[in-house]
Amino acid sequence: MKATLKKFTQLKTIFFIMLLSTILCIQLYNSNDFRLSFSTTKKNRPGTFHFDKIYVLNLKRRSDRREKMSLLLDYFNLEYEFFPAFDANSPEVEKEYQSVIKQSKLRKSEIACTLSHLKIYQSIINNNLKSALIFEDDIDLEVDIELQINEILPYLPKDWEMFYIGHCCVEDLREPFNYPTLFISTRPSCTHAYAVSNIGAQKLLSILVKLNNPLDCVLVDLIEAGKIKSFSVEPPLAVQWRLGMGSDIAVSDPSWVDQQLKNSTLKYLSIKD
Ligand SMILES: *[C@@H]1O[C@H](CO)[C@@H](O)[C@H](O)[C@H]1NC(C)=O
Repeated sequence: MKATLKKFTQLKTIFFIMLLSTILCIQLYNSNDFRLSFSTTKKNRPGTFHFDKIYVLNLKRRSDRREKMSLLLDYFNLEYEFFPAFDANSPEVEKEYQSVIKQSKLRKSEIACTLSHLKIYQSIINNNLKSALIFEDDIDLEVDIELQINEILPYLPKDWEMFYIGHCCVEDLREPFNYPTLFISTRPSCTHAYAVSNIGAQKLLSILVKLNNPLDCVLVDLIEAGKIKSFSVEPPLAVQWRLGMGSDIAVSDPSWVDQQLKNSTLKYLSIKD
């Protein structure tokens, strides 16, 4: 009888110790400091860099780029969706091309690019997403991008509409906006890595009904005119490697692609062209 009672007390003690340590673990996990360091050292959950979704625009026939992007994004343990881009030779593009050809010099590849981005904005709205990050499939990312995004996002105003984590050219950026690498966008050329909020997607869809210029130029004009509330990260956390690889979209100005990352993830992972 005494032995049974002693055993029971022991079991009770063990049970309480286990309960206490479980509570302690949960508390530790929920405290922000711990979670921040946790998520950067041990990546056990797929993430989306805090946006509702990550879209990766990709032509079905470019499986080579899909593979390369998967290697890159899987390193960050990201959850993403390859979104089928319009092919320059598709009937949709041909139709648009015929209707705009008279007043503009748009290439079919540029029309295909714009239509593809527009389709993503529509998907953001249809799926009622708060925001989404859009990647083209020819990019490289800064190794510590997750850490940097975590630090920048709290300073992004709640009513942001576009957020460029990568852009081409050196933007004529002025004062940092509350954080040393966050700026109000001025001329964020290129569309290889940017986020759109739901309101941003709605605005862009309603404005971009008529195509008469390449998408990135149209966006620059809208942003310069203050019609879209956009922010940029400088130096960019995402760059394109397309100069070396035969792009689907012509590069009109080689100075656009001379951007260097401080620590390229493709290089770090030894992912070759
Ligand atoms: C790049 O990042 C990796 C991973 O964090 C690190 O091991 C490496 O030393 C970095 N390289 C440079 C040149 O900073």
